[in-house]
Amino acid sequence: MNGPETRDPAAGDTLVDADSFLAEDDVMRDARSAAAVLGCDPVSAGVGGALRFVAVAVRARAVVEIGTGTGLSGMWLLRGMVPDGTLTSIDVEPEHQRIARAAFRAAGHGPSRLRLINGMGLEVLPRLTDGGYDLVFVDSSPADHPRYLDEAVRLLRPGGVVALHGTLDPRAGASAVAGLLECARQVREDDRLAPALLPLGLGLLAAVKQS
Ligand SMILES: C[S@@+](CC[C@H](N)C(=O)[O-])C[C@H]1O[C@@H](n2cnc3c(N)ncnc32)[C@H](O)[C@@H]1O
Repeated sequence: MNGPETRDPAAGDTLVDADSFLAEDDVMRDARSAAAVLGCDPVSAGVGGALRFVAVAVRARAVVEIGTGTGLSGMWLLRGMVPDGTLTSIDVEPEHQRIARAAFRAAGHGPSRLRLINGMGLEVLPRLTDGGYDLVFVDSSPADHPRYLDEAVRLLRPGGVVALHGTLDPRAGASAVAGLLECARQVREDDRLAPALLPLGLGLLAAVKQS
């Protein structure tokens, strides 16, 4: 973050950096270190803060996440959800979820708040209830984002929010780019959705399902 004294607007310096505006605590920093060892890329604090913001705004009680990782995004979501809310989080890697479970516990979130499901997102989501969720967060396999968006719109209650991470990822390969562009098009053209693309982290494409 640049102070007013050191800021150089001509060099593109901003007064406040959106991705380091909020600080992570020790449990989050440990989860980030574990993610680095596993080669799994967690959300920035800016994205985490946006997820918590949305969870508070929609009074989220039931949230689905695809891509548990080591638990960074899940911890932000849980902090914004109502105290008895449940996070359903899906990941193909059991080792990632083992570390995430320990991080959730260390952060004070007991087993009653969690449903960790080991599996492929697109195989698990069809088993979840239509209209039963306040918030769906997608942070895995960008090539599949168009299909995740379809599932999310089905899962959300009116007024619920879908957020997909990675839309502005400069490292995205060809199949990821195709999925991300198709998903952005779908979101813009779907009359049921009120979208916004937030330039946080790798880009957070969010949309409210309108009543
Ligand atoms: C970028 S990391 C998630 C980071 C996490 N959201 C966080 O902020 O800590 C992506 C995760 O998605 C998982 N994953 C990749 N493809 C998947 C799929 N098809 N279904 C479920 N999980 C998947 C990976 O195992 C990895 O843990």
